Amino acid sequence: MAKELTRGIFITFEGPEGCGKSTHSRRLFQELVSDGYEAVLTAEPGGTALGQRIREILLEKGDVHFTGRAELFLFEADRAQHVAEVIVPSLEERRLVICDRFNTATFAYQGYGLGMDIGQVEAVDAVATEGISPDLTILLDVDVGTGLQRAGLERPLDRMELRSREFHEKVRRGYIALAKNAPGKIHVLASSGDMDTVYGLVKEKVYGFIERYTGAG
Ligand code: TMP
Repeated sequence: MAKELTRGIFITFEGPEGCGKSTHSRRLFQELVSDGYEAVLTAEPGGTALGQRIREILLEKGDVHFTGRAELFLFEADRAQHVAEVIVPSLEERRLVICDRFNTATFAYQGYGLGMDIGQVEAVDAVATEGISPDLTILLDVDVGTGLQRAGLERPLDRMELRSREFHEKVRRGYIALAKNAPGKIHVLASSGDMDTVYGLVKEKVYGFIERYTGAG
């Protein structure tokens, strides 16, 4: 039976490298669609045609040097296009938007990881997001060693993954700090256990949240 939402809902997945967010967000999306929800699955960087080009620049290994600010603006350029082209129109149509990474990643990676001023990062981000922020964020936490090992089993590591262990530790701690500052908005789930168990927790959290905005269509 089709399920109608009383408003658009924006849910994001976040976490350090190899945390399993792409797998869990895809599975959740498939389940939501088969349950009758009008859902959209998207990702950053790379949720638009322009974003795909930006993603290649950002993640390709090579000798191109990026300053932190240049890197920040590339992620935010990807986001500006994505918000305007995909996220806002989908929310306006009262869809459920599931996004694999959004601005919490920028605060964790460019803010905490690279050590950029959080106030400045937030200011640039506000330009890109047009004030849109997730209704709910699922933060899948995994220790850095396990996560990078998992990522490396899937494919060769990219430019971001190849950064130092110390960088990735800062990102992980940053995510946890961000979650502490946003209780009720960012939910931390330990992602080191069995995949089905973790997925069960993800599903419980998300379905619990969207039920209050669901009516029978
Ligand atoms: P992915 O591996 O989840 O597709 O994400 C690509 C990489 O980009 C990952 O290493 C996290 C990083 N990233 C940032 O550093 N800042 C951001 O704002 C976003 C969206 C991703």
